[in-house]
Amino acid sequence: MGIFNKSKKIMSVKENEKTLHRNLKFTATEQYKLLRANLSFTLPEDCECAIIGVTSAMRGEGKSTTAVNLSYVLAESGKRVLLIDGDMRLPSIARKMKLSNSPGLTDLLKGEETIQMGIFKSSQLNNWYIMPAGDLPPNPSELLGSKRMANSLKVLSANFDYIIIDLPPVNIVSDALTISKFITGVIVVVREDYTEKKELETCFRQLKLSDVKVLGCVINESKNGKGSYGKYKYKRYYKYYKTYGNYDSAET
Ligand SMILES: Nc1ncnc2c1ncn2[C@@H]1O[C@H](COP(=O)(O)OP(=O)(O)O)[C@@H](O)[C@H]1O
Ligand SMILES: [Mg+2]
Repeated sequence: MGIFNKSKKIMSVKENEKTLHRNLKFTATEQYKLLRANLSFTLPEDCECAIIGVTSAMRGEGKSTTAVNLSYVLAESGKRVLLIDGDMRLPSIARKMKLSNSPGLTDLLKGEETIQMGIFKSSQLNNWYIMPAGDLPPNPSELLGSKRMANSLKVLSANFDYIIIDLPPVNIVSDALTISKFITGVIVVVREDYTEKKELETCFRQLKLSDVKVLGCVINESKNGKGSYGKYKYKRYYKYYKTYGNYDSAET
């Protein structure tokens, strides 16, 4: 693993429950494995390290859940995998994995840490690594689209078969679009009975305009979305819009 052998941080994950969402049943695990298999058909043949962004139209559709579970099943199949939390405004990978959120990607992009310092290594699977988001920077979109990001991905891709990046939603901020020139493609997560058609259309329009390669879509929580999640829909949309809205206006 080259430079990553020195990584001292050990993430302790004893049971699948901590990585695969606790509500996920056997069928969901199988679906992630199917996603893993389907991915191999959509990736370019000469791709030595696939850098895959996971995004969606809005918040709460299951991007982070998908990114964690996909990276896990890929690592489980023996691939060397790095999961990066690229949602710097609302990071959630560290929380989901019970890790500290800092240092992480933002420290790396600010140039304050060497690459391996922000990376946690799983003690459950020795080929599964996680880079949390790090402290919130004032300019997340610029950082993700920066030369330093491109260079970091280049170094990282020599050490991994897959890099999965949990990205913010396309319709709220431009981060997912700014990083697109450095990645192989994106997976778009759609939550059944949650994602609105109009929002989805906007999302795909934006991705097309920015020439982002869409590798495929994940329909999250198919069939079961109505009950417990439907009622939070408005609240969740609102909260995210508000949070990102603040940063966007601070940037201009
Ligand atoms: N298929 C699912 N079944 C049950 N809960 C889910 C599922 N997908 C996501 N969740 C839950 O929904 C919430 C939002 O998911 P998350 O992956 O954080 O969304 P996003 O990253 O798109 O904002 C989280 O609390 C997550 O645990
Ligand atoms: Mg998320």
